[in-house]
Amino acid sequence: MQTFLVTGGVGFIGSNFILKARKQKWANIINLDKLTYASNPHNLAELQGDNGYKFVQGDIADSRLIQDLLAKHQPDAIINFAAESHVDRSIISPENFIQTNVVGTFNLLEASKNYWNQLSPQQGKTFRFLHISTDEVYGSLEPSASAFREDTPYNPNSPYAASKASSDHLVRAYQHTYGLPTLTTNCSNNYGSYQFPEKLIPLMIINALNGKQLPIYGDGQNIRDWLYVEDHCEAIYLVLQQSEIGQTYNIGGNNELANITVVEQICTILDELVPKSNFKYSSLITYIKDRPGHDRRYAVDCSKIKHDLGWEPKENFASGLTKTIQWYLNNTAWIEQIQSGTYQNWIRQNYENRKISLST
Ligand code: NAD
Ligand code: TYD
Repeated sequence: MQTFLVTGGVGFIGSNFILKARKQKWANIINLDKLTYASNPHNLAELQGDNGYKFVQGDIADSRLIQDLLAKHQPDAIINFAAESHVDRSIISPENFIQTNVVGTFNLLEASKNYWNQLSPQQGKTFRFLHISTDEVYGSLEPSASAFREDTPYNPNSPYAASKASSDHLVRAYQHTYGLPTLTTNCSNNYGSYQFPEKLIPLMIINALNGKQLPIYGDGQNIRDWLYVEDHCEAIYLVLQQSEIGQTYNIGGNNELANITVVEQICTILDELVPKSNFKYSSLITYIKDRPGHDRRYAVDCSKIKHDLGWEPKENFASGLTKTIQWYLNNTAWIEQIQSGTYQNWIRQNYENRKISLST
């Protein structure tokens, strides 16, 4: 069986990927994660005792550590999920985004190049460096503009998007200059189990269940494309197995929706699953001050990955959202345990100056 070095595998998408990879016997996994606020070791609790899984706490910007891990475990692929990933945090304190997303990715590329250069010709041929990126690197679309394609020019608007764009450019340069066998995927907004409730969907589910306000930035008409995380994980594995070296692929869910529509759908599902006799969840919706520089619309054209690799998302938004809400309803201990003091501090920091208080 192959071995993958996964970075950032204790976060949302990485956890889902690792759980699937072990269940489906895709590969043995070495998981390197710094364990920032966004990580949650409980996500991977079921892998305890699995000999094909090993966790290492550390930073992708630590070159000595990466060098040692590569020498020791001789991975067949590196999948770089590790990142600071929340736009609002990048607006309040961008520095960590530069450190992890730019410097960290650079460090990983440098170590990978040195490792790859000393592999046997056979191993060198099959080795891959897969970088997980975002559709946000392309910037914001006008209402009638066509969806992002892989050749859409980069136009990042937030410090988060700029740091991811920067890392994508470094990956591209390492392929072009040194021949490092890289791949890049740019996906839309993921949703599903194990997502930290600073992002729209889990935040709304958890606030609604706690009877708190549902804070909509601006007019609620900003549009995102929503990708069910398990569809995303399957796409990543397919790209890793079948893509030609140097390719980039956009991955989306074919679900372009205004934020207010997403939140209204969450409320409708909760009204069915956990009805309240005295109110409808939608009565908690509250419009608040907008995010600075808020991108208006993202949309992803996935025709390249469909054409080249035959991938299409399987989940539709209604079924994916119901599964997601059901997961949060069934995992109340997980929710309680992540709502620590630091989480409450973030909620205060992000929402208090927007004229509503969501803290307890
Ligand atoms: P996340 O914030 O849930 O998890 C990130 C993980 O990376 C955490 O476990 C954290 O501890 C780890 N990490 C952070 N800095 C690190 C460092 N310096 N060294 C090692 N580990 C570090 O993120 P996610 O939502 O799972 O996103 C994974 C990747 O997918 C990111 O690269 C993100 O930019 C990209 N992406 C995410 C989405 C989305 O909707 N969640 C959409 C597009 C792209
Ligand atoms: P988010 O989940 O932070 O992802 P991203 O900014 O990377 O797309 O936000 C998704 C959308 O939801 C985005 O347009 C901002 C909006 N939003 C709110 O309206 N209220 C909130 O409390 C949050 C967290 C996001």
